[in-house]
Parts: sequence; structure tokens; C-alpha cells
Amino acid sequence: MATYRIRHCEQLSGEVSIHSAKNAVLPLMCACLLTREPLTLERVPALTDVHTLLSILTDCGVSVRRDGDTLTLWAEEPKSPTAPDLLSRMRASVLVMGPLLARTGYARIALPGGCAIGQRPIDLHLKGMEALGAQVQLTPGSVTLQGRLRGGSVYLDFPSVGATENILLAAALASGSTRIENAAKEPEIVDLCACLARMGVGISGAGTGEITVTGATQLHGCTYRPIPDRIEAGTILCASAMTEGSVLLRGIRAEQMRAVLFKLEETGVSLRETPAGLRLTGRASQPIQVRTLAYPGFPTDMQAPMMALALRLRGTSVFMETIFENRFMHAREMVRLGAGIRIEDRIALVSGGGVLAGTTVTSTDLRGGAALMLAGLAAEGETVLRDPEGHIARGYEDLPGMLNSLGADIQAEEEG
Ligand code: UD1
Repeated sequence: MATYRIRHCEQLSGEVSIHSAKNAVLPLMCACLLTREPLTLERVPALTDVHTLLSILTDCGVSVRRDGDTLTLWAEEPKSPTAPDLLSRMRASVLVMGPLLARTGYARIALPGGCAIGQRPIDLHLKGMEALGAQVQLTPGSVTLQGRLRGGSVYLDFPSVGATENILLAAALASGSTRIENAAKEPEIVDLCACLARMGVGISGAGTGEITVTGATQLHGCTYRPIPDRIEAGTILCASAMTEGSVLLRGIRAEQMRAVLFKLEETGVSLRETPAGLRLTGRASQPIQVRTLAYPGFPTDMQAPMMALALRLRGTSVFMETIFENRFMHAREMVRLGAGIRIEDRIALVSGGGVLAGTTVTSTDLRGGAALMLAGLAAEGETVLRDPEGHIARGYEDLPGMLNSLGADIQAEEEG
């Protein structure tokens, strides 16, 4: 159980380096199941989700070597995982399904868990596996897939990030060519495709809605460095904009976060790209309207941190969440700090600019937890943020440490 004691903060300034993207690293780790040769990933962030996936991969028979933040994974004879409780802890664990099935002709996995931000079914993943020739059998709490995969055509009813990744991973070893229509376009998809291409898969169309994959009979290992985390970067930018900030982010790719940068500019802060990184200066003031969408739209993972920023904006900001149906849980906790937020179904109206007062709040999910940490910076006095399930550490490598290096005062306490 983690507890954070957060003091009010008027100014953040300084420089921080952004870690590699959690959402890029997790699918890349699963790519190791496609080959008996070692896959080496560089600059892997120290996250609980990475740790959990390592345990799942170990359970799948993968050997792991760590050297600092470099991770080498070998899957000589992979097999289906046996520990259902590990899979139920994180949604991304479903990404072992595609590569295991493609490599061994069989995969049995417990249905995945993760943040309770919506129903999060895996029907699109299964539809993709069926299109590649798998027989799918659903039993309560688990799914079994069998069959030698061959290329096929898949149309996704929604451009699901996870389903696109799972199908890419499966198609990599399927015989012939696979076409994914209405594929997700997120930068993390492009990153996975770049790594798969290096391993020997033929891929075109990554980053567009139509991806074509030419499977290989055998793939190689490679060494790969994942892209920087656009959500971590966006979270730090929101924190800075809540204060009289001047913060330089090193190691980001601004072109992968245009939607967030445009919204930040609408709040009145100044953003400048320099050879050293991206600098945000000034305090945000103007209210905004945010509608979450698939990439290149505004990312749902930034909705909560942006709502924390909206608490500081003068006037009413509007948030419409179109991706997940239960992603305003943090708003209830923000109200405990004195925020004026009204929720109508998938719309949140945030009346910003009022005084917030520190109290005890509870982390609701990964991004919601980070947003509450930011809200704590804005609240007068001390905010105690309880994170009994360790949500924040699942996806941020030392967020309090990063904010403290910019001048915040956040004390992290671990118990139990
Ligand atoms: C990934 C990200 C998560 C991000 C999300 C949307 C990782 C590890 N996680 O999650 O941080 O918030 O993308 O950008 O990369 N859906 C279905 N059927 C399916 C799959 C998804 O209906 O088979 C629905 C979901 O319920 C949700 C929507 O599609 O409403 C988006 O989900 P998806 O893009 O799959 O998100 P994840 O891959 O779970």
C-alpha cells in the first residue's frame, strides 16, 4: 500500500527526462514469445506492470536477464501461463495470447484484469484470432485457442490498441499475408511494427488504418529501444501548467503528442521545441473542451491529468470520454478536495478556479491516481493520497520523484 503526502505547490521549474512508454514496452516484451533467439529491450522503465508481465512471461517459460534497465528475454520453448491471478492483475497480459498461439498452435489464458475503467472485453482480439484460423473456446474465466495460423483479413469494429497488437503479434508467424482494417494508429503500434520488422516480419501501413503483415516461418531476435512515454510527458506538462511553471522535458517526441500540446496551448501556456527538448512556460488559465478519441485524437489516458489541470482554469471546462465508459472515477475524489465537477453520463463539467483544500483522497485507477497527485499540488495545505492497490507505480516510474525534482514536495510512504 502506498500513501503520498502532497504539499501545495506554486511553482515547478527545472528539467526532467521522460522514460520509455509503458504501453510500448508491454507489447514489445510479448514479442519475445515469437522467437527462440534473444530479444533485448533497452531503457525499460521500472514499473509494476513491467514486473508483473515479467512474472507472466517467466510462467510462460521465458528466461529473463536484466542488466540495469536493459532486459533480455528468450523464449526457447514457450507454453501457456498457469497462474491466473497474475493475468487477472493486468489487462496487457492478454497480449501473450497471439504470439503463443502463433508459435505453438495453442494458447490458454485466464481472462485479463487491469484498471476498472470500463468493461474492457476481448471480443475483437478473439475475432482477429478466428480470422487467422484459430478455434476459440470460451469457458468461465478463461479462453482456449488452437490451430495453425494462416493469413487472413480482419476488420476491427473499433480501432482497439490491444486487439491490433495481438493480431500483429499473431500474424507475424502466420503463413501468408494478413490485412488489418480499421487498425489502431497509436505510436505504440508503430513501435511494435518497427520491432517486428527488425525481427524479420514484413509489415506495411503501420500508423495508418490498414496494416498488412507478411508472416515469417522463423523470426530473429533483435535489440530495440522503445519510444518515450507520451502520457508520462503529458502528465508532467499538466503539472507544470498548473503552477507558474517553466519545465523542460527531455527525450520526448512532440509529434506523437500533438493533441495534448494543442490543448495545453489553448489554456494559455507557451510551448517551445528546442534542441534540448520541449519547454512549457507559464500558468494555464483558459478553460478547454476535451473529447477523447483514438489516435491522433486526444488520448483517453490524458483525460484525468488534464482534468486536474482544469481545476485551475478560470471557467467551465468540458470533458467528453468516448473510449471507456467508466473513466471519471477520479472526479469523485477531486470533489472531496473542493472541486466543482458535475458528471452527466460521459460528460464532465469542471468549474475551475475555485480554492481546493487538502484532505485524504484515494487513487481510483492508474491515470486517475496520477491526476489526484496533481490535484494535491493545487490544493491548499496537505493532501494525503492513498493508493492501496499501487495504481500509480503500475505506470509511472517514480512520478513523485520526478515532480519533486521540479520543486514539488511529495513524500511517498510504503506500507505492507
Ligand atoms: C490501451 C492502453 C490504455 C489506453 C487504451 C486506449 C496499453 C497496455 N493500454 O488499452 O492505456 O487507455 O489503449 O488508448 O496499451 N474494446 C472492445 N473489444 C475488444 C477490445 C477493446 O470492445 O476486444 C473496447 C474497450 O472496451 C474500450 C475500447 O475498445 O472501450 C478501447 O480499448 P483498447 O484500445 O483495446 O484499449 P487497451 O488496448 O485495453
